[in-house]
Amino acid sequence: DWIMGNYIEEAVAKIREQVGDEEVILGLSGGVDSSVAAALIHRAIGDQLTCVFVDHGLLRLNEGDMVMDMFSGRLHAKVIRVDASELFLGALAGVTDPEKKRKIIGGLFVDVFKAEADKLKAGTGGHKGATFLAQGTIYPDVVESGGTKTKKATTIKSHHNVGGLPEQLGLKLLEPLRELFKDEVRELGVALGLPADMVYRHPFPGPGLGVRILGEIKPEYVKLLQRADAIFIEELRAARDASGKSWYDLTSQAFTVFLPVKSVGVMGDGRTYDYVVALRAVQTSDFMTADWAELPYSLLKKVSGRIINEVRGINRVTYDVSSKPPATIEWE
Ligand code: XMP
Repeated sequence: DWIMGNYIEEAVAKIREQVGDEEVILGLSGGVDSSVAAALIHRAIGDQLTCVFVDHGLLRLNEGDMVMDMFSGRLHAKVIRVDASELFLGALAGVTDPEKKRKIIGGLFVDVFKAEADKLKAGTGGHKGATFLAQGTIYPDVVESGGTKTKKATTIKSHHNVGGLPEQLGLKLLEPLRELFKDEVRELGVALGLPADMVYRHPFPGPGLGVRILGEIKPEYVKLLQRADAIFIEELRAARDASGKSWYDLTSQAFTVFLPVKSVGVMGDGRTYDYVVALRAVQTSDFMTADWAELPYSLLKKVSGRIINEVRGINRVTYDVSSKPPATIEWE
């Protein structure tokens, strides 16, 4: 609309003035904030922006390709895709402790991103090096790190969203979404031409499927979970309540969790001995507390039937009926 159009013009002018003829690096994750920041900055400075997309191998089914199609294919932005899945999965082999897993993923993420940023800082051929690091920081992030919100005394889970990177890299910060709330960021994303289903996607944690595979992460588990989760999300998007809203939009976050335990089942004349998954869907306004969602039985039935029939290796589907607190939203 007109107001958003105006906002974009102003934001674009501000970015151009701040950046001048310098070069900018942005860490693209596929999440809403970094995606909208990338689209806005690209609108302002085009090829002076290089996005770095680190694929840790713990993304959802086809997610890496979708990010590339959108930013490189459709927006024609410069995107470097770093396929680091072997590095991450190698480092995670044999590790079962949730906090250790998070630390490994977070630490490697910084290492890989820094290595790419260092190359871009150095510049190549006719290009001078990058001097700015762009981040999709939004207003609630600013408030939180400023200590205005009360900080919890104990860390329940270490988040791997990285602070202090610009200083470490010796880059100047560019944060064009700093004054916006989440819903404004989404509106801006749509106005910039990003697809609504990308902009209204449920949040996805930085460590990705790494915290949704309980205990040790194995490549086989990642593949099974990706396929089961894709079915759950597809059916949530397809199912609607009486008002016509999709169950995807009626929930705040929904996903599948891989349980590395085997249970007995029957399939045709045979006995199966396969893995279990749990479906998780919650409703919340702030993610600090959350209720499990009362999904229709017909929907759960369809999802369970499809997962068991289509994903060989999983023969049992359960539904998580725990609220937060005392359970957390993620299982690790
Ligand atoms: P929990 O499991 O603590 O999650 O109830 C609350 C919200 O935070 C998300 N989450 C993360 N997001 N990096 C993130 O960017 C992380 O390490 C991380 N851990 C949890 C979780 O998906 C939920 O939305």
